Amino acid sequence: MILSIESSCDDSAIAITEIKTKKLLFHKKISQELEHSVYGGVVPELAARLHAEALPKILEQTKPYFKDLKAVAVTSTPGLAVTLIEGVTMAKAISVALGIPLIGVNHLIGHIYSLFIEKKTIFPLTVLLVSGGHTQVMEVKSLTNIKTVAKSMDDSFGESFDKVAKMMGLGYPGGPIIEKLAKDGDRKKFNFTVPLLQNKKLAFSYSGLKNAVRLAVEKADKDDYKDIAASFEHIATKHLTHKLKKYFQTSIPKNFAIVGGASANLYLRGQIEELLNPFCAKLFLSELKYCSDNAAMIGRVGVEMYEKNMFCTLEELDVAPRSLL
Ligand code: KG4
Ligand code: ZN
Repeated sequence: MILSIESSCDDSAIAITEIKTKKLLFHKKISQELEHSVYGGVVPELAARLHAEALPKILEQTKPYFKDLKAVAVTSTPGLAVTLIEGVTMAKAISVALGIPLIGVNHLIGHIYSLFIEKKTIFPLTVLLVSGGHTQVMEVKSLTNIKTVAKSMDDSFGESFDKVAKMMGLGYPGGPIIEKLAKDGDRKKFNFTVPLLQNKKLAFSYSGLKNAVRLAVEKADKDDYKDIAASFEHIATKHLTHKLKKYFQTSIPKNFAIVGGASANLYLRGQIEELLNPFCAKLFLSELKYCSDNAAMIGRVGVEMYEKNMFCTLEELDVAPRSLL
């Protein structure tokens, strides 16, 4: 079995995955959403302190599995340096105490493998990752053959939802809050501009849209918030589908997946489904409970890396806030 740890942002999670069957034997996650909600976003130092409390509590429950562990996998990149270090330090301690090898996992690959928890892998696969930290399109051929073809030049898709909710004083995380508010709103009421519409580059940008929403919020009264939320969600999603449509002109995917916290958004799912229809591409989604950060996806990558002997030493394993993907 493999013990996996996730602490890249505001979720403390540990999982136990059986290597041979890929079965998830244990998974526990403690989210810090409530604690960060009053600040309208994640406060890194507070997050680190909460991980330091939560991770040992969860680890305690995994003791019965210790004798069967073959390796310990941990998210080491990308994420907040001060929170990644909490998980990595714990993983190193477990590695030394139990005499088992260490596996450093890329969190973005973790999100891709959230599709394959307790399942076989499916490749080739084109993946849209939409989370709080990333908005990117990747062509995935295998664990070690992943090519990023588009990414955000500034804010991410999920982050823009967080910031819009913060502007309206509605708390954190903004994604589910804005999605709920948008349901009763008019998507055409506010005519926000689709980002990078005339730009040929295959890239994303959310800072301009965020600022346009800020101006609208400042002028609006509370009754308008639902229409702003709906119009924002519509344009934020249209930006994704517009760029994907462009990408599909040269590269039609057979298998397409949306992963990451924001892949839970039903409007986004619907729009992507519509976009894929004429191409007869198959759409893959993670189970709702594995869209946001979790340790099950890290364990699933851990199993794959274990089978390929992709271990690292105590000295080699370090945190890297920015991903190389
Ligand atoms: O993958 P994740 O849990 O953490 C990162 O790796 O960043 O994603 C969290 C992000 C947050 O920005 C959150 O607001 C966004 O995903 N999110 C959503 C929805 N649910 C979560 N964004 C839009 N619509 C949602 N329903
Ligand atoms: Zn994530």
